Amino acid sequence: MSLLEKINETKVFLEEKGMLKPEFGLILGSGLGELADEIDNAIVLDYAAIPNWGQSTVVGHAGKLVYGDLAGRKVLALQGRFHFYEGNPMNTVTFPARVMKALGCQGVIVTNAAGGIGYGPGTLMAISDHINMTGQNPLIGENLEEFGPRFPDMSDAYTAAYREKAHAVADKMGIKLEEGVYLGVTGPTYETPAEIRAFKTMGAHAVGMSTVPEVIVAAHSGMKVLGISAITNFAAGFQSELNHEEVVEVTQQIKGNFKEFIKQTLEVL
Ligand code: HPA
Repeated sequence: MSLLEKINETKVFLEEKGMLKPEFGLILGSGLGELADEIDNAIVLDYAAIPNWGQSTVVGHAGKLVYGDLAGRKVLALQGRFHFYEGNPMNTVTFPARVMKALGCQGVIVTNAAGGIGYGPGTLMAISDHINMTGQNPLIGENLEEFGPRFPDMSDAYTAAYREKAHAVADKMGIKLEEGVYLGVTGPTYETPAEIRAFKTMGAHAVGMSTVPEVIVAAHSGMKVLGISAITNFAAGFQSELNHEEVVEVTQQIKGNFKEFIKQTLEVL
């Protein structure tokens, strides 16, 4: 089956389950998936039950697709995303974003945990742009003309108008929202200090192992994007050691503010 046929098969399957006309896709990163628990009138599907869908393997990623009402909008939320470092092909990593488009989403909110280059643990950062250092591109292969052009413009991949609204919400809530460039790597190693020094010179403010593939696919297909990084640690070389436990712990601390901020932002997008 071609990629397009798979997308259509999954779209029809989800529509038959009642997941009709979502307005926004939510791609929720490590530990931030709890937001999906607040969706009202929810229809919930295990990833295992969805045709052509990948399987989630990371601890802290639930592996559920949740559709319903959040902040007055119809949303389709990924509770647990797919990472390239898990061994997933790029088509699997980005399949949910393609299906979101096929179902009619006009925009996506993509969140992640990231290491800060300059910014410290606990910081929320609106992504203004990205640097793709994965050495991959999810659009390699036959172009799906139905979704977008062969050579898509990435100048405005992160929608400025969404970011402005997010800043207004953060101001109203009295929380600090920084802004910066997210540099995407494949992982699963954390970076070396030399890599982080190089990434700093390149203009990165945060580094992480997700987001870039999904945003490339979203931008290709004309969906608007709001990207938010939760900075969980100083990147390598700026603190003594890095570990997943710290990333999980800081995410737990951030997530209360984070959930409220995303909900209020969703309301005004
Ligand atoms: N590097 C890459 N990915 C991450 C980090 C980091 O320091 N922290 C959380 N995700």
